[in-house]
Amino acid sequence: MDLNNLNPLENIDHWEDDLIKRYPENKNEKSQKEFRDYQNSKRAETVREFYKLNHKYQSYNFVCEKENRFLQFKQGEMSLWEAVEFLNTLIDDSDPDIELDQLQHLLQTSEAIKSDGHPDWFVLTGFLHDVGKVLCLFGEPQWAVVGDTFPVGCSFSKSIVHSEYFSLNPDSTNPKYNTKLGIYKENCGLDNVKMSWGHDEYLYQIVKDYLPQEALYMIRYHSFYAQHKEQAYDYLMNDTDLKMFDWVRKFNAYDLYSKAPVPPDSQSLKPYYEDLVSKYLPNTLNF
Ligand SMILES: [Fe+2]
Ligand SMILES: [Fe+2]
Repeated sequence: MDLNNLNPLENIDHWEDDLIKRYPENKNEKSQKEFRDYQNSKRAETVREFYKLNHKYQSYNFVCEKENRFLQFKQGEMSLWEAVEFLNTLIDDSDPDIELDQLQHLLQTSEAIKSDGHPDWFVLTGFLHDVGKVLCLFGEPQWAVVGDTFPVGCSFSKSIVHSEYFSLNPDSTNPKYNTKLGIYKENCGLDNVKMSWGHDEYLYQIVKDYLPQEALYMIRYHSFYAQHKEQAYDYLMNDTDLKMFDWVRKFNAYDLYSKAPVPPDSQSLKPYYEDLVSKYLPNTLNF
């Protein structure tokens, strides 16, 4: 069986649509009936299957293998704009529900941040936060690119979505990894904690020398819902992490809820973003 061919989602953004169902912007908007209907739908079924694969295979060793492979940055050199355009080729024509391409999601996020008057590095973070999804175009399966992220090397929290599937993960029965702290020390700080592999960690490693610390936390932990929404891993966090997660939460609201009625016009915005990118990043990045 080739694990790389296991891609249950019709479109990788269905994972993010599921997040909005889990964490609706206005809790009252989510009627019980609507949520039940969704849980019974075929879409929810594919999301469950997706998390089953993610939780089964994202073990400590799996993360080490992916880091060894991708953190040598041998996939190629691209400017950020080229990477965004490359990412935008990730469109699934078979999905009639698709509303937004990847570029639109990035621009909606960054434009919403901009219109609230935040500093330019925050706008840039919105614009590039999902560029690590190019992993999909390097042949990686969906469950190793998107989905909630979580620490590996210690026991999996019950607060992680579909945590029942962690029983399939070999680390769950490995005494080295299946205690509350596992290989870590209490409040050792997230920088010392290995996270499940995906687009967040990958992009963080690509841009870590160029952006302010707040931006790097947003990029690295934006899919770590078990912490930024559920506070399930306070015992691994240090004081800096706790402070920086205020920014991660601030960012998350733009990531999830910035769907504008009129899609941003990418052509007219391009010069602004080219200037912004060149203010912070080198001409090309190694992927
Ligand atoms: Fe993301
Ligand atoms: Fe996003």
